[in-house]
Amino acid sequence: PASTTEPPHGELAVGGVPLTEVAERFGTPVYVLDEAEVRDRCRTYRDAFPEAEVLYAAKAFLCRAMAHWVAEEGLGLDVCSAGELELAVTTGFPPERIVLHGNAKSPRDLETALRLGVGRIVIDSPAEIARLAAAVGPDGHQKVMVRVVPGISAGGHEKIRTGTDDQKFGLSIADGYAQHAIARILDQPQLELTGLHCHLGSQITSVKPYLAAVRRLVGLMTRLYEQHGLTLPELDLGGGHGIAYRPGEEALDLTALARRVRAELTDACATAGLPVPRLIIEPGRAIVGPAGIAVYHVLAVKHTGDTVFVAVDGGMSDNPRPALYGVRYAPRLIGRADTAAPARVTVVGRHCEAGDVLAADVELPADIRPGDLLAVPVAGAYHLSMASNYNLVGRPPVVAVRDGLARLLVRHESLADIRSRDVGL
Ligand code: LLP
Repeated sequence: PASTTEPPHGELAVGGVPLTEVAERFGTPVYVLDEAEVRDRCRTYRDAFPEAEVLYAAKAFLCRAMAHWVAEEGLGLDVCSAGELELAVTTGFPPERIVLHGNAKSPRDLETALRLGVGRIVIDSPAEIARLAAAVGPDGHQKVMVRVVPGISAGGHEKIRTGTDDQKFGLSIADGYAQHAIARILDQPQLELTGLHCHLGSQITSVKPYLAAVRRLVGLMTRLYEQHGLTLPELDLGGGHGIAYRPGEEALDLTALARRVRAELTDACATAGLPVPRLIIEPGRAIVGPAGIAVYHVLAVKHTGDTVFVAVDGGMSDNPRPALYGVRYAPRLIGRADTAAPARVTVVGRHCEAGDVLAADVELPADIRPGDLLAVPVAGAYHLSMASNYNLVGRPPVVAVRDGLARLLVRHESLADIRSRDVGL
């Protein structure tokens, strides 16, 4: 988790800055990002996978500072829209280190990718091949990969499982769609196929599905070699590396992943008589998730039946994950000593529906009261990137902390910001 230090009286400091101070200065809800933790996690990946290309999956969280840190730490970037792409490139992210994904890339996505010169575009549907070839033009050149579906079930929740044929991403190997698409790509001289891609799902805590994916993809590479004499220099295993959201939860063991994927890949290629392709991985959550903490003020405490509801000043508009995936968080009281005995409470948001629950049935001090501050750790990934304006609530600011200093990265979205888009009457 973010490098927290704990002085007395319930104060909690991240990056050397007390969270109470951040809350006071920037208001709540506020998202605090530990820069050193983000950078450390990037380095951990580089050290664990020195031979691989590590792409940070921008969908987990992106702002200009984040793009800058990731670039400085030597990672590439996985983007899936013109928006993510433009933000990164206008921040100075080297476009050749960017890979564009998407199961339904818009004309604007493709046009932006070609104009800015992204490294690779990952083809995800048959229709995209002709569209891309036309956009590149007969004299142009673009490196592409193909996203294939290996038929492997893995991932934390049904909505974030993408390795089997019953979901929308990629081209099925089992049904031959991947092979068919590859043959069509090979017919387009302006498209250079550099490798296969797969993404099994997200919040995966076991190494095994990745090993199965290596075998499946090398199997396909073998057939491509036999049929087309093709040797592909890259193999992209996607992201999905699971993290712990609460104490005691399991995370994917990165060292084991690196060691065993490397061994499996070397072995499978040796057996097939193929050169070992360069590995690409795309972690998002594991880089930024544990580096973020959300801080809320308690606005109301209510006893109903058997439940104590603790309502905070944010909710599903800044963190839709409990409502979407039933994810459980471990909020904690900060800013004062928690001397009271623990009680079981349900932390809810401020939005107009009963499903706006941030943390059901968790332990907090029995005397929790309005005005208290709650911190929700492991809030860096897929919170703000999925935030909404539900109930016309502005999205929270992002503050970076480092070496005892707090710095605003993304300002709070004001009501004027929201109103300014509303141009009709
Ligand atoms: N590569 C591709 C092609 C992906 O689609 C994704 C995530 C990643 C990499 C990064 O996966 P990660 O390492 O972050 O697990 N909103 C959901 C997660 C959706 C993941 C979508 N794709 C959540 O909050 O759990």
